Amino acid sequence: MNSRHFLNTQDWSRRELDALLDKARGFRQSRQGNDLHGKSIALLFFNPSMRTRTSFELGAHQLGGKAIVLAPGKDAWPIEFEIGTVMDGETEEHVAEVARVLGRYVDLIGVRAFPKFQDWSVDREDRVIQAFADYSPVPVINMETITHPCQELAHVMALQQHLGADLRRRKYVLTWTYHPKPLNTAVANSALQIATRYGMDVTLLCPNEEYLLDPRYMEFARRNVAENGGSLTVSHDIESAYRDADVVYAKSWGALPYFGRWDQEKPMRDAHRHFIVDEAKMALTRKGLFSHCLPLRRNVKATDAVMDSASCIAIDEAENRLHVQKAVMVSLCETGNGD
Ligand code: CP
Repeated sequence: MNSRHFLNTQDWSRRELDALLDKARGFRQSRQGNDLHGKSIALLFFNPSMRTRTSFELGAHQLGGKAIVLAPGKDAWPIEFEIGTVMDGETEEHVAEVARVLGRYVDLIGVRAFPKFQDWSVDREDRVIQAFADYSPVPVINMETITHPCQELAHVMALQQHLGADLRRRKYVLTWTYHPKPLNTAVANSALQIATRYGMDVTLLCPNEEYLLDPRYMEFARRNVAENGGSLTVSHDIESAYRDADVVYAKSWGALPYFGRWDQEKPMRDAHRHFIVDEAKMALTRKGLFSHCLPLRRNVKATDAVMDSASCIAIDEAENRLHVQKAVMVSLCETGNGD
């Protein structure tokens, strides 16, 4: 299949991303329209969601389209992804049929499929969405797997609202924060990609080397710096990382070397509760903006004071999910089969 998909912003040129953001700003001004009249999208959620589901479903509706929400294994048949397997277990149909049947009904397919958190060498292949992309005759949109490209666009849009269109050389800190459970690296991978894509001076702040992101995304970031200017620094020092920052973006994630043996990661994680984003740390910044993709556990990842401060733009970013996803859906429908 040769459809144009929206799986990772790295697959899209900077000019194309800017065009999506321009379109999204238009949808911010005018929410209703007919751009998706007669079009439909199947939204497949293998994991929970609040923002993604609401904004995609409502976004399609506001533009005259229709969204069908499915939770495979719950309200739809459990799906098999292994090729050539004897399906005598729990799964009832193969992605080869699911993707092609949905492609006969709808114009777009959105997929949310988080890692299984057992073996990163398997999870990093992103097999679920890749299988949909391989078999689907219509464009597939990543609604968060091991990256979160819609969140990236919403994030850049919010930064541009507050800092202006040119984000180059702004100091951007992506900080790991504590969370009682090991979480997906998707938003951290995405933040690293998009901040370097827009030429920012990016600091990845994390407790130690074990919390570095997958080499694929570290390499994307280095390549982005080479192409777009800016810089990439890894730091384990909170004070120097926050000092003079223009943007602090927080996310918690599980240490990749500990996938599948999280009980061994827990003592290390628990020793870094002090990575919480608080007023004292934000006071080190250059009146920096704070954001997070949400959901966020208050007073664990960031304090009430930070979340309720004027510098917190997390709600703007969440709103922008509605606008950028309309832009993605409309653009993919316009492009249609991209071969
Ligand atoms: N940020 C985000 O994707 O939120 P949900 O998990 O609620 O969709």
